[in-house]
Amino acid sequence: MSAPTSKPVAAPPWPGSKADGVARLELNGETVEIPVVIGTEGERALDIAKLRATTGAITLDEGYVNTGSTTSAITYLDGEKGILRYRGYPIEDLAAKADYVEVAYLLIYGKLPTSDELDSFRMSLSLHTMIHEDMRNFYSGFPRDAHPMAIVGSVVGALSTFYQDSLDVRDPRQVEVSVHRLLAKLPTIAAYSYKKSVGQPLMYPRNDLGYCENFLHMMFAVPCEEYHVDPDFAEALDMLLIVHADHEQNCSTSTVRMVGSSDANLFASISAGISALWGPLHGGANQACVEMLERIGADGGNVKKYVDLAKKKDSGFRLMGFGHRVYKNYDPRAKLIKATCDKLLAKLSIRDPIFDIAQQLEEVALADDYFIERKLYPNVDFYSGVIYRAMGIPVQMFTVLFAMGRLAGWIAHWIEMHHSPTKKICRPRQVYTGEMRREFLPITKRT
Ligand code: CMC
Repeated sequence: MSAPTSKPVAAPPWPGSKADGVARLELNGETVEIPVVIGTEGERALDIAKLRATTGAITLDEGYVNTGSTTSAITYLDGEKGILRYRGYPIEDLAAKADYVEVAYLLIYGKLPTSDELDSFRMSLSLHTMIHEDMRNFYSGFPRDAHPMAIVGSVVGALSTFYQDSLDVRDPRQVEVSVHRLLAKLPTIAAYSYKKSVGQPLMYPRNDLGYCENFLHMMFAVPCEEYHVDPDFAEALDMLLIVHADHEQNCSTSTVRMVGSSDANLFASISAGISALWGPLHGGANQACVEMLERIGADGGNVKKYVDLAKKKDSGFRLMGFGHRVYKNYDPRAKLIKATCDKLLAKLSIRDPIFDIAQQLEEVALADDYFIERKLYPNVDFYSGVIYRAMGIPVQMFTVLFAMGRLAGWIAHWIEMHHSPTKKICRPRQVYTGEMRREFLPITKRT
């Protein structure tokens, strides 16, 4: 037998990564050298960009469990250690010391703003909060019982019909205007989706209020009386938006990147991300989690029964707000949210039975071998709904609030992708497993 030949596979210049030797793959008697790249925190990846061209083979990875779609300098997370950092800053520091607008700036522009930069960013956002009057009319066309995520996704997509002057993905000025418009208008679009469901007039934004205060005002104020925003609510909401702001290549962010990779405009790309977020395995889990806690409460509060049910594969039931593709440790976001939840309920002297059930459920699940072996911990969605309930936010709006937070991350990734020298349209391959070529049968001969 002849010695296997070795074929080197050239690595493209993955932005920000370094070469770290080669791995060797043996295929059809040949050895192929696959470059290994390493990121700044030591994550290693086999660079298979030239694999098909060199060997004719592709890789298969359902759900992209082992697949890095890109290098990225935005968010670092270590699921084993429970670490989450935006642009190098720990989430705990950002939640304690910054507000959402500052964090959005950090994610999008890559650095913490100076005070002048932050002032002008805030000013720009406050100048774009209104939506076009014709767009307000859209809301009369949606059914009263429409899910707000459906409304928000549609209206965000429709921004590209009103702002045709800022759709050129290659013009940095147009992109920046679209970014500011989106960040400023999403709270308005979101609050109106709620107002529609309760049949109340759509409140104009108030540009003298902060980002979260203004959102709460548009949600809860009515024209016939004064509304005072509770500063504790605004503070808790701000923290929630920060912890939801980015989470690297999750389903919705990957969707935004994928849609954006075809050079679709920012509004269209973000609207697609909103659709991806809606699913109960992703952002929709916060709604599903509170509905599950309510169901457990209505069923007598026996948490053990539901933990046992979640362990039965054929039950079709999972503990919502538990488990994560990446975290195999306590989700750092869930820790921050639980602490805020404790503080807020104590301050408001609210005793929410749902919070008690959540805590009992967590205790029972974390002591159960099934959850221990699979490293299933509460995730970001487990306690967030309890805070939203305390603020009077209806359950159908929970995922919309997730979208409001995640918007900054989606934008940051969309921009990073467009700036990448290695950008390509996303177009995965497949292994075809259907019928081989066959003859077309006239309808009279088919059985
Ligand atoms: N309840 C019961 N069993 C679970 C759960 C759960 N919540 N999550 C995972 N498992 C089991 C699963 O059945 C599997 O068991 P086995 O190895 O015996 O087949 C094992 O744990 C691994 O699960 P998986 O489905 O292969 O893991 P995944 O990485 O594909 O899914 C997940 C991650 C988040 C979709 C999943 O944990 C889940 O469905 N959780 C509930 C929904 C939820 O809370 N989603 C919000 C995620 S955090 C917010 C966000 O980023 O969107």
